[in-house]
Amino acid sequence: MCGIVGYIGERECTPILIEGLRRLEYRGYDSAGIAVLESAAGESSLLTRVVRCRGKLANLEALLTEARPTGRVGMGHTRWATHGRPSDENAHPHKHGSVSVVHNGIIENYLALRAELAGRGHRFSSETDTEIVAHLIDEELKAQPQVGLREATRRALGKVQGAYAIVVLSDRTPDVLVTAKNASPLVLGLGEGENFVASDVPAILPHTKRVMFLEEGEIAELRRDGIQVIDLAGRPVRREPRLIEWSAVMAEKAGFKHFMLKEIHEQGRAVTDTLRGRVSIEQADALLDGIELDPQTLKKLTLIACGTSYHAGLVGKFLIEQIARVPVEVDLASEYRYRDPIIGPGDTLLAISQSGETADTLAAVKEAKAKGAQVLCIANVVDSSIPRACHHALYTHAGPEIGVASTKAFTTQLAALVLIAIHLGRRSGTLSSNAAAELIREFMALPQKMADIIGLAPQIQVIARRYGHARDFLFLGRGTQYPIALEGALKLKEISYIHAEGYAAGEMKHGPIALIDAEMPVVVVVPKGPGYEKVMSNLTEVKAREGKIIAVATRGDQDIGAIADEVILIPEAPAPLAPLLTVVPLQLLAYHIADFKGTDIDQPRNLAKSVTVE
Ligand code: M6R
Repeated sequence: MCGIVGYIGERECTPILIEGLRRLEYRGYDSAGIAVLESAAGESSLLTRVVRCRGKLANLEALLTEARPTGRVGMGHTRWATHGRPSDENAHPHKHGSVSVVHNGIIENYLALRAELAGRGHRFSSETDTEIVAHLIDEELKAQPQVGLREATRRALGKVQGAYAIVVLSDRTPDVLVTAKNASPLVLGLGEGENFVASDVPAILPHTKRVMFLEEGEIAELRRDGIQVIDLAGRPVRREPRLIEWSAVMAEKAGFKHFMLKEIHEQGRAVTDTLRGRVSIEQADALLDGIELDPQTLKKLTLIACGTSYHAGLVGKFLIEQIARVPVEVDLASEYRYRDPIIGPGDTLLAISQSGETADTLAAVKEAKAKGAQVLCIANVVDSSIPRACHHALYTHAGPEIGVASTKAFTTQLAALVLIAIHLGRRSGTLSSNAAAELIREFMALPQKMADIIGLAPQIQVIARRYGHARDFLFLGRGTQYPIALEGALKLKEISYIHAEGYAAGEMKHGPIALIDAEMPVVVVVPKGPGYEKVMSNLTEVKAREGKIIAVATRGDQDIGAIADEVILIPEAPAPLAPLLTVVPLQLLAYHIADFKGTDIDQPRNLAKSVTVE
């Protein structure tokens, strides 16, 4: 999510760090900073100088024109906020004592660690989880300076749970840069008399093509003349460097042809990050970052959103009503704001927005708030306008979404809605502890199943080529799969420019059936579960009119092959979780059809990533 770059060598490092950060700018920004080991005037020892500020890299560069640190060891960071709003204080690097840290990821147990450290007299200067890591390493280094920075980092990380890619430097150990990785990407670049570390290849590509990727739970010590890798137990690890052949543009996309495809692939990781620290099988519960929803007082929940986020809201209605038996109303934000909605004190509105900047959604939030309602949101961009206008926000942690067509933002919104449904269900007594624990277990297994579906891309690509010439598509689904049909149709039309409509399968005979003929592909989402038989009988109606059926069905389904022309078989999941899986083949289908047609997939015509006008 955040961008990281580090350097140790003989060259002046500030320009290298700034250039590296510029190459990571596509990841999005809310603040940026660097830390450089420089020799203080009249001193022989080196001191770390940190320069950081809120906003884009340009703000940092402006600060650096006044006072540019000079030194040959340093690190830089661009932040995508997760804990703590974007501000100068929350910008990385975080320094405590002699230790400075930059971090990408989420420290799950940071509240517990922060409390422990506070008990030992530590005081904090930011709201971030990252600062905890600087305190822990500094404590280790102070207690036993002779162990060195790498060992102090290893000992500190033994206390940390969660996802991290970190780079650490200390003015007590000026000849090393230490870096560690767990579930967040990190690449080491090998130069002549200099070495690099970065969250992404583009940051180091102008300097070297010889790289090593760190694996989970590994720590590396970078010196000017070499790199040593160990695991968390302290055992040495042998890793052979390899040559990267990517161009700079390919590297930004991590080798994927488009950001959209990269983001489809990132969904397992993104859902894992959304669940991180928020679900517990032992407690059979879901926590919502301090949001307490009480079903006893919650008469009704109103969900509002636009586009893909609206489709997430439609799924959310099913989930919350079925799991928690709390009535849910869903509305398009653009409609809601103009219909003088009946909402006031005691009512709760939940807005859903990836960007947190959508004008219609923001206006609807303000309207509900002005009328006295409690306003909450599910958002991806921390501290964007909608979360700022709301009383509380639940962030999805999907990371920056660059492709205009929303993919990982959608699945993480669904994950956040499942969390809300579990939270409410446990408190309303409609979800037993056993059922909640089982649902959470299945929930945690989803990322692996998503990866499994992404492995079906070659089959989906063949289907895309076979049907990519069609002028119109119909998408059908029932229950929670109806919004998925809407989402599949939206994805296809926005990036391939093919006309597509999503329909509730039971509504087909009330109109759209008139469109069906041998030229019309009908994509049906029909996993095993509630409504399966009903959709199967809708399909016989399509077949009777010679429609071409592309089915997304559950592995092991013995009947679907007899009626559908193409069958995409996906792993089984409990009904509330199935939408997180069924949407993935539809995203891939839209992507491969658009790719086949050669459209501008990441920036389709007439569209913008965040719609900040009415
Ligand atoms: O940032 P938001 O979630 O508020 O954006 C809402 C819609 O503009 C957005 O989902 C749009 O429909 C996407 N292009 C869909 O892929």
